[in-house]
Amino acid sequence: MCDTKKNRGLEEILYVIDENGPVPEQEPMRQYYFIKKARQYVEQQEKQAGRPLSAHVTTFGCQMNARDSEKLAGILSEVGYIEEPDEKKADFVIFNTCTVRENANQRLYGRLGQLGRAKRQNPDMKIALCGCMMQELEVVEKLKKSYPFVDLIFGTHNLYKFAELLSTSQESGRMVIDIWKDTDKIVEEIPSERKYPFKSGVNIMFGCNNFCSYCIVPYVRGRERSREPADIIREIDRLAADGVVEIMLLGQNVNSYGKNLAHPISFAKLLTEIEKIDGIQRIRFMTSHPKDLSKELITVMGQSKKICRHLHLPIQSGSTRILEKMNRRYTKEQYLDLVESIRRAVPDISLTTDIIVGFPGETEEDFQETLDVVRKVRYDAAFTFQYSKRTGTPAAVMEEQVPPEVVKERFERLLTEVQSISAEACKIHTGSIQEVLVESVNEHDASLVTGRMSNNLLVHFPGDTSLIGTLIPVRLKECRGFYYIGEAVENG
Ligand code: 5AD
Ligand code: SF4
Repeated sequence: MCDTKKNRGLEEILYVIDENGPVPEQEPMRQYYFIKKARQYVEQQEKQAGRPLSAHVTTFGCQMNARDSEKLAGILSEVGYIEEPDEKKADFVIFNTCTVRENANQRLYGRLGQLGRAKRQNPDMKIALCGCMMQELEVVEKLKKSYPFVDLIFGTHNLYKFAELLSTSQESGRMVIDIWKDTDKIVEEIPSERKYPFKSGVNIMFGCNNFCSYCIVPYVRGRERSREPADIIREIDRLAADGVVEIMLLGQNVNSYGKNLAHPISFAKLLTEIEKIDGIQRIRFMTSHPKDLSKELITVMGQSKKICRHLHLPIQSGSTRILEKMNRRYTKEQYLDLVESIRRAVPDISLTTDIIVGFPGETEEDFQETLDVVRKVRYDAAFTFQYSKRTGTPAAVMEEQVPPEVVKERFERLLTEVQSISAEACKIHTGSIQEVLVESVNEHDASLVTGRMSNNLLVHFPGDTSLIGTLIPVRLKECRGFYYIGEAVENG
């Protein structure tokens, strides 16, 4: 957090804000006001402590949460905290939570217990919780009762107000809780910080309107809201000017982007506009819902020079009967047809998916249908999940919940199948030359760097830090399961 330069534009605005004057009503000015206020508090604390104050952001869950955490880190940095890599040593710790499956919740309670013990050693430590799990009433009740050492709790809809909540919490000696049920608001121009200088996530929409019957996301992230295309383009323009070469467009269902805007625009059209931005060399997006993936998008992907050769297309189940109970609104055949059209337009595309096993009522025959799709599509990677009952979703009260031992046994069989297929699918690139975006020095061997291909596979090859953030051609020498060892190719 500390190592980024302070945002100059923001500094100029902060300079003219009177932090002792009335609180501005308009956003984002209101948040800038609270950044200035919170900054004063941090400066005061630092004087007392005789050292800088530090903060740590811990992220659970998906890419959307990872992006939200960059916004939290951006505000903490503007307020004056430096980054502390060890959460137990930080003065301010925030957990950005996930609740998509029950085990995510259990993990949070475990980590919070550990942090509570660290706080006993350092009573000045402040602990904040935000994100999807905080949108559940029972969770907040449990926290109030059993984790009274938590200082601040807020949800997904008011994350943009983090500076204000932080400031309120600094001034209050008690637990501050602010959870909104829903929102139709999108607040632009809130500071954020990037984990990588050369790539960035970009939210294009928030929330979800699909109500798949097992999924808690629409309840905790609210109704679908798309950002204005001009705001998205402006953000990407600035990222490109700042050295970003790869962007990941984020939304629960990017294929329905723009449908509810005052001037509707399709996701495919948005991609075409983004493609024109100089400096951006790679475009990724996530997640696609098969029911909304248009012919127009397939055409745009086929023609694009920048859209990566990777599509994450969650199937969830291969059984049309189960898909109907899941409220997915496509059949097995429609999904397979879609895969065929995509492969026809983009032959080298890498396909990945999400699969749930053990959805209520799933029989062995239904499960065989899922295996059949896996064998037909031959995914490059599949994320497999055991069905987890989420209170408040329609599936939680469905009859015929599948016994845990049956779920587990099907899960193991599915895993064996997807792993052996994706290992074979991964191998086929051996010997080819691929363009790679170098992301980091290899974690285990400092003589190697790690890069990502357009199809999302990783390759490790000899190189040094000067390559990070560049796109270079690499020959894939050897496939080791799910990644490659390669060598950079001289002169392209
Ligand atoms: N149980 C298991 N997996 C789930 N997912 C969403 N909700 C549940 C649930 N209740 C999975 C879906 C989704 C991914 C992000 O998480 O496969 O695509
Ligand atoms: Fe959940 Fe379905 Fe929305 Fe994805 S599309 S977030 S699985 S409700």
